[in-house]
Amino acid sequence: MSDAGSIKVWVLVFVALFGVGTVALVGIGCAVGANQCPFVKHKALTTTDGMTLYQSTCIGCHGARGEGGTADAPPLRSGEAATMTLPQIEAKIANGKPFFMPAYSKKKKHGTFSDAQIQAVAEYVISLRTTS
Ligand code: HEC
Repeated sequence: MSDAGSIKVWVLVFVALFGVGTVALVGIGCAVGANQCPFVKHKALTTTDGMTLYQSTCIGCHGARGEGGTADAPPLRSGEAATMTLPQIEAKIANGKPFFMPAYSKKKKHGTFSDAQIQAVAEYVISLRTTS
C-alpha cells in the first residue's frame, strides 16, 4: 500500500473511533438520564405515584433505596438529603443541577414532571428515610 493510502486508512480509523466514542458517551448519558437522548423520545409519565416515578427516573443515580453512589449522586435516605424539607426536595427535583442532575419540572427545557408529580416523588424520597 502506498504511503498516501495508509494515511487515508488511519484517518478513517480515527474518524470511526471518534464516532464510536461519541455514541458510547451519549448512550451512557441516556442510560443514566444525564442527558437527553437524540433518538429516544422518553414518553412522559402521567402517573402521580411517587414510587413509580422514582423507580423510572431516579434509581439510576440515587439507587433503589436512595442509598446513592452512582454518577456522584448523594444518598437521599441519609446525610444532607435526610435533613431537607419537602419544599427543598421539590425544588431540587424541579431545578436539578446543571451537568449533575436533570431538571424535571415541565417548566424547564427538557422537564416532563408536573407539580403534582414533583410533589409525589418528593414525598416518596422522604419515605425512603424510614424504610429498610
Ligand atoms: C444523572 C443522575 C441523577 C438523576 C437521574 C437524579 N439525580 Fe438527584 N442528584 C444527582 C446529583 C449528582 C446530585 C447532587 C447535586 C448537588 O450537588 O446539588 C443530586 C441531588 C439530589 C438531591 C439533593 C440531595 C443532597 O444531599 O443535596 C435530591 C433530593 C435529589 N437529587 C433527588 C432526585 C430525584 C427525586 C430524582 C428523580 C426524579 C433524581 N434526584 C434524579 C444526580 C441525579
